[in-house]
Amino acid sequence: MSTNHHLHSMTSQKHLFDIPPDIHYLNGAFMSPLMKSVSESGMEGMRRKLHPWAIHSEDFFTQAEAVKEKFGRLVNSPAQQIAIIPSASYGLKSAVNNIPVNTGNHVVVVSNDFPSDYYTIRAWCQINKKEMKVIDAPDILNGRGAAWTEKIVNAISTDTNAIILSTIHWTDGTKFNLKEIGEKCKATNTLFIADGTQSVGAIPIDVTDFHLDALVCAAYKWLMGPYSIGVAYYSKAFSNGTPIEDSWMNRSNANDFTKLTRYVDDYKPGAARYNVGEFSNPILLSMLDRALQQLHDWKIDAIQNYCSQLIQPLLLYLKENGYWYEQDQFRANHLFGFLLPASIDKDLLLRALQKNKVFVSVRGDGIRVSPHVYNDESNINALINTLKQQR
Ligand SMILES: Cc1ncc(COP(=O)(O)O)c(C=O)c1O
Repeated sequence: MSTNHHLHSMTSQKHLFDIPPDIHYLNGAFMSPLMKSVSESGMEGMRRKLHPWAIHSEDFFTQAEAVKEKFGRLVNSPAQQIAIIPSASYGLKSAVNNIPVNTGNHVVVVSNDFPSDYYTIRAWCQINKKEMKVIDAPDILNGRGAAWTEKIVNAISTDTNAIILSTIHWTDGTKFNLKEIGEKCKATNTLFIADGTQSVGAIPIDVTDFHLDALVCAAYKWLMGPYSIGVAYYSKAFSNGTPIEDSWMNRSNANDFTKLTRYVDDYKPGAARYNVGEFSNPILLSMLDRALQQLHDWKIDAIQNYCSQLIQPLLLYLKENGYWYEQDQFRANHLFGFLLPASIDKDLLLRALQKNKVFVSVRGDGIRVSPHVYNDESNINALINTLKQQR
């Protein structure tokens, strides 16, 4: 049992969701189920336009400001450095578009990273004729997480323009040592661009402590929000960058609707220029705001801790029966992959999981399990029992 569980412990929050007892949903990394309260907030947001006469010009900004503040508080950033984005790919493009070209000749990525990350940086490398150094996972099972971070750190030099990676590996939950990577980036003047989609909300991430320059998150997984909205942090390194679009809403004069055609050259401060057009979607923002509030009420370390305690019996079973998973120190507890022993037929296992209504994902070579506070031990037991049936 985790030593700090007395700090913020919690019990199953299943009652806040709409999950039947025979469904064993261990797949938050695919997408989280909506909380009933978040669904309700979305309905309220939708109904707002029934009465447009009750919508005021400041409503185009205030709800987004509240979301930025709550997300900023989650990752230790001022609200001003946060932008509202429609997807991780969009937020990543804003960052990558503004990587200085003259600070090096290569970028660093990790192998099998999420395609939105990979394609975005590959396009930049092709246009700017830079090398893409792909850092493979070390071919060892013991000490793999530590060795992988070391390979990444060693690949970063004063000749590196940027590194881009998912804060935990999206297939197997490998936790990279972000602080070590961030310190190397700082020492070598390398931009550190991270995709937090699979971690922010479920595991503590601190943009200041890790020296992150950008942290981009889709909201529909661990931020417990709806699809087609996300949030991103951009450090001051991006404060003079070029946005993808030229929305009127991001300009310094946007709040006074009577003077919008007194065109200006400047933007609102911080990361505001990277907000997507029409970012003040009342449905999506209402939902995300409610979800972020719930995350703050739960506390992120309590969520991670809850997941850790929940999976202990599963980890024990896996360890005693020849499955591989990453060691505790380099593995997230809300998302992790395990490899099957040779004796287990993967297709038969997947069929049995489906039959028993145990929802997990196949990613890379392994099975990815991603629990959350809506799970309890009955769900973990259903997975263990299905594995037991396979012997
Ligand atoms: C690491 C990571 N980033 C981003 C996403 C979603 O990307 P996008 O918002 O570009 O569709 C996913 C979805 O699985 C993911 O695992």
